[in-house]
Amino acid sequence: MKTVISKMILAAAILVPGTAFAGIALAPVMQSWNHDRRQIDAMLAGDRPFDQAAVAATIHTYVTDASMVAGHVSGSSPEARDFAARFRRFAQTAAASAKDSGSVARFRPHFEELVGECRSCHAVYNN
Ligand code: HEC
Repeated sequence: MKTVISKMILAAAILVPGTAFAGIALAPVMQSWNHDRRQIDAMLAGDRPFDQAAVAATIHTYVTDASMVAGHVSGSSPEARDFAARFRRFAQTAAASAKDSGSVARFRPHFEELVGECRSCHAVYNN
């Protein structure tokens, strides 16, 4: 019974449409985030040279966009508040990575944390 209930809760969580709270078109923002993410993945994998200016630009974009999205979230349901909080946290995580953006070794753990936040939000809200 416990398992059935927790599965139902999980299924309900996965069906929450983030776009319902976003208040702006998220897909173009997400596509740009994904493009930047791939560039940085390639740098961290050693497939292209580490470009500190490009990394700094991506961090700036992530901070600005995530703060903007958080500011446009509509509604005050627990889900809407959680959705906005996740974007604010993403902006903070991105901002905190700036101090270590000068080298692959120092930047890697920050970027893994950021990508973890992409994944954990999608697990709940990406419909
Ligand atoms: C706090 C929540 C949240 C975070 C953080 C987040 N996303 Fe998303 N993402 C969404 C939601 C919600 C959608 C669905 C948007 C839609 O359908 O319009 C989405 C959709 C996407 C899509 C599909 C876009 C399309 O064409 O439909 C991509 C790609 C994507 N995200 C990449 C990323 C990447 C890369 C990151 C991290 C760098 C990230 N996302 C962080 C919530 C988030």
